[in-house]
Amino acid sequence: MKIGVFDSGLGGLAILKEILKVLPEYDYVYFGDNARVPYGGRSAELVFDYTKKAVEFLLKNDCILVILACNTATATALRRIQKDYLPQHYPQRRVLGVIRPTIEEVIKSHARRVGIIGTYATVLSGSFIKELIKIDSSLKIYQAACPLLVPVIEEGEYEWEGLELLLQKYLDPLKKQNIDSLILGCTHYGLIETQIKRFLGDAIKVFSEGSITAKKLKDYLQRHPEIEKLLSKKGERTYFVTDLNDRYSNMAELFMGEHFGEKDRLTSIIL
Ligand code: DGL
Repeated sequence: MKIGVFDSGLGGLAILKEILKVLPEYDYVYFGDNARVPYGGRSAELVFDYTKKAVEFLLKNDCILVILACNTATATALRRIQKDYLPQHYPQRRVLGVIRPTIEEVIKSHARRVGIIGTYATVLSGSFIKELIKIDSSLKIYQAACPLLVPVIEEGEYEWEGLELLLQKYLDPLKKQNIDSLILGCTHYGLIETQIKRFLGDAIKVFSEGSITAKKLKDYLQRHPEIEKLLSKKGERTYFVTDLNDRYSNMAELFMGEHFGEKDRLTSIIL
């Protein structure tokens, strides 16, 4: 059986890239719903509906474990999928998200004043805040939705002066709150981690989800040998997208670099 990785589009490839660095031996199925991306400005109900269909697809395609690499999907759909959908339809399978693992790392770092950036839907869901407060209710938490960052990152405009202005617009209010930590709560933001760190300076610790998710997945598989032993280990990767357009291969390279290569097979599906 395989590990499924789901994202609203291709940003989740940046998370998969980090997972492959740590766990290259397993077989992966990536599903990017790029026909419907972005999810970030959509209603929670619609994101749940899209995410459920995608998860269903991955489970039918032999995935025993599915990672929701998408923060928007994790924030709005994960709990319902874990509580209602899985027990009824696939009680032996597991679906995990990116928020909880990130929160655990933030808590471990003894953060006191936490900033969170993400899409509108992620910020509106309050999911990061709820998870943080559950563990430590004395934390000071500040959020900002950054809707303009995703398109700029997808264009690969990392050194454009406009990006600097956007960082100023979104991060200055958080900086003014004297945050000591910033969570990059979106698949895409890890790609501009250097620019964000440069803007914030050394005093603010930045949490990027790719490496955290990879490390936590490794721990999870060690703690769950009943799942690990069912995973096939041929190092195969299959990618499904809902719109096989010309930008796909450029973007795959942008998000995965040399990790997108000969072993990678790409198919288009309609959900
Ligand atoms: N993948 C989404 C996330 O991590 C960003 C792109 C979108 O809005 O769909 O929240």
